[in-house]
Order: sequence, then structure tokens, then C-alpha cells
Amino acid sequence: MPTFRAPRGTRDLLPDEAARFNRFARVARDLAERYGYRPIETPLFEQAAVFERGLGEVTDVVEKELFRIAPRTEDSEAWALRPEPTAGIVRAYVQHGMHTWPQPVRLSMMGPMFRYDRPQAGRYRQFWQFDVEAIGDPGPAIDAEIVELGLRFYAEVGVRGAEVLVNSIGDPVCRPAYLGVLTSYYRRRAIDLPPTDRDRLERNVLRLLDSKDPAMAAINAAAPRITDHLCDACAAHLAGLRAHLDALGVPYRMAPGLVRGLDYYTRTAFEFYVAGREGQQQAIGGGGRYDGLVELLGGRPTPGIGFGVGLDRVALVLDEQANVAGARADAVDSGDLGTLDVVVVSADPDDTVGRLRVATEIRAAGLHARADLGRRKLGRQLEAASRDGAHFAVILGDELATGHVQIRDLEAGTQRAVATSDLARELARAVKAHRHG
Ligand code: HAM
Repeated sequence: MPTFRAPRGTRDLLPDEAARFNRFARVARDLAERYGYRPIETPLFEQAAVFERGLGEVTDVVEKELFRIAPRTEDSEAWALRPEPTAGIVRAYVQHGMHTWPQPVRLSMMGPMFRYDRPQAGRYRQFWQFDVEAIGDPGPAIDAEIVELGLRFYAEVGVRGAEVLVNSIGDPVCRPAYLGVLTSYYRRRAIDLPPTDRDRLERNVLRLLDSKDPAMAAINAAAPRITDHLCDACAAHLAGLRAHLDALGVPYRMAPGLVRGLDYYTRTAFEFYVAGREGQQQAIGGGGRYDGLVELLGGRPTPGIGFGVGLDRVALVLDEQANVAGARADAVDSGDLGTLDVVVVSADPDDTVGRLRVATEIRAAGLHARADLGRRKLGRQLEAASRDGAHFAVILGDELATGHVQIRDLEAGTQRAVATSDLARELARAVKAHRHG
């Protein structure tokens, strides 16, 4: 048992997994660029009030899961690690006067989030999200753009069968009346409610629809639906979103019970699942419209919409799908493996300078190369190179005196001498031929 371990609910991303996350980042960055969402980074922690006010006091994320940072002195601010990126991004939008920029401001980020949740598969205390936000457009066309972008991300990282569930959760015009109807419905069943939900009934009744307690499933299934209580403007917005999704050929399912776990949402709410995996209650992403959030955080009234993709869950799904297909996860995800083209080895175990110098030259020519810097026999160096997955070894031997080295094809087992002056060019040609054929 090691003395120190990664904290409960966190995990180390070892090289194979970290390489996969790098690939997620490449796909995310490329998609964001293609769709015109510019990168933004915000601090990993904020004033706790940004989250308390932004996400809502009576939400799991704020009530139970916020990682609060103990104040250093009595009068210092209350800070918290970010449980999600939207509130921080909106805080930045207000702080930097982004309302003067051309609207909407399209932004994207990828990074770690922190929630003090009960850890289980797919639920971590530190997890990664790919997030996009479009602030300053009331929709509904941009709502469809965002939903389609989310589905495109799953397709491009290789998730099969991602689908989106869509709902509208109304706005300050129609929601109060609906909440009244919902409250009377639950009050009539108060004795059947689990204690947490009974407690929330009077404080934030919408959360009950999102309850994870199995005892709530039947009660929630029969609860009044918000889509039957939308005002004309919200109903028109939902119809507009559906028309745009239909026009784009984006398949979606209406989910009248979907309410999301954060309070800032208005109108459009959606979640991404993998077909057949819904039972695990694990969305691989989710988002929606937050037309009141900018104002709530001190800006002028400005509409916004976005989503967050849970990358740890995407990784789990890719593993599951690879297992079902009988393939190894890393074979399916082979784009994730770092390609090592060349290892430089030497017949003289003491000549580390020569190996390092040649490897440096090869890398300067743009190839992926590692010098074997161990003081061990040539045979051992070659074995290690093969184990590392290198395609070629460059062997420094006696011919170095006449300006020659050997290039060995580790898979074919063949080798030939080349002049050191031609080495980079020869290797580049060999590596290219190997990759393409
Ligand atoms: P969220 O639904 O709370 O929304 O989180 C988005 C996704 O992050 C979830 O669907 C899930 O895949 C992943 N996730 C959440 N909690 C965990 C956890 N403890 N462990 C692993 N993965 C997790 C938001 O965060 C909103 N900011 C999305 C948004 C952006 N809405 C508008 N703009």
C-alpha cells in the first residue's frame, strides 16, 4: 500500500489516458475554430458567490458539492473551486464589457471542474469538460447550432449512438404558474416523498423532477409537464428550435421531465446520452439557455446558451464500446497513441553524447525521436526500442568515423548504412513510406 494516493474521487491520467484527453482537446479546439467559438480560460477558483448566485443556492452543486477553500485570514474572501465553467465565463463577460463586442460572443474552453460528489464510476470530484457558450443571441437558431455542435463532437471523437434529449423549462413569465401547479401536486403526495425531496419541495420544487432517488421515479413520471404550461413566447421558441433541428436533419427526442441540475436555465434545456445507456443516469453532456444569468451576475439583461461535455464519461463510453466490439480500447483509439518514429542507439554504451546529438538533429528535422541514454549493450537498446513501438533505430557504430550510421527497420529486421549528412532526409522518407504503406 503506497503512503500517498490521489485523493478520493480523483485519478491520475496516465500516458495512454492523457494522450486520449489530448486528442479530445484537439477535436474540441478544431470544432470550436470551425464553428467560430473563440478560446477563453478563466481561473480554477472564483468568489464562492459567483456560483452561489449563478447556479442557485438550492442546488446539489452549491448545497452539497461546492469545494470551498478555507479563508486564509478572517476578513478574506470566500472562494470555491469551479464546479462548472458557465458562471465564471459569464462573470468574465460582464467584467470585461464583452457586451460591446459583436454579439453573440461565442466562447469555448476545456478544463478540469470540481464537485464534492459521492465518487462512483463516471462521477468524480475532479473531472474534465469541453464547454461552449454563445452569449448575446436570443435564439432559437443558435440553440440548434449549439445542439448540433455537441453531437458533432461525440461523432468526431468516435462515440457511437450519441443522442440528445430536449425540453423547454419556460421562463419567468410562465414558470411561476407551473411551479404552483407542481407544488400542489407534490404536496398531495408529501408523505411518499423521501426526506431530502420533502425538504426541497418548499424551497426549489423543480429540483424534485431531477431527483436521483428511485422512490421518486413513479411520482415524477406522473407529474404535470412544463411543456403543457409554456407561455406563447416560450412555446414559439421551442417550436423554432425544433424547426431548426429538423431542417438540419439533427435527430432529437423530446423529454418533458428533463429539468437540469442548475437554476440558471430558461427555455431550452438538453442532455446528451448514449442510446441504451440512459439507465445509468449518466449524461455525457448537457446544457441549455440561461437568459437571466448575465443580469444575475451584474451585467445588463443578455441571453445566452451553451453546453458542457463530460470528457471522463466520454472516455468510459469509448472503452465500453471498444469492449463490446471485441477490440482493445487503445486499438480503436489508436490516434491517441504517441507515435515514436525513431530511437537512436549506440554500439558504445558510453557514447551518450553521440546519441543525444544525433537525436537532437533528427528532432530538429521534425521527426519523433528518442535517444536511448542508458549505458547498456546494443542488443538491450534495440529490444527497448522495439518495445516502445519505434519503427526505426539509428545505430551509431564504428562507421561513425567515416561519417556513416545504420538505419534499422525494426519491424522488417533489415538495415542499411547512410551518410550522417543524409540521415534526416533518409529517415523522413523512410518514416513517410512506413506511415503510408
Ligand atoms: P452539467 O450537466 O452539470 O452542466 O455538467 C455537464 C456534464 O459534465 C455532465 O453531463 C456530465 O457528463 C459531466 N459531469 C458533471 N458532473 C460530473 C462528475 N462529478 N464527474 C464526471 N463528469 C461529470 C454544466 O456543467 C453546465 N455548465 C453546462 C452548460 C454550459 N450549460 C450552459 N452552458
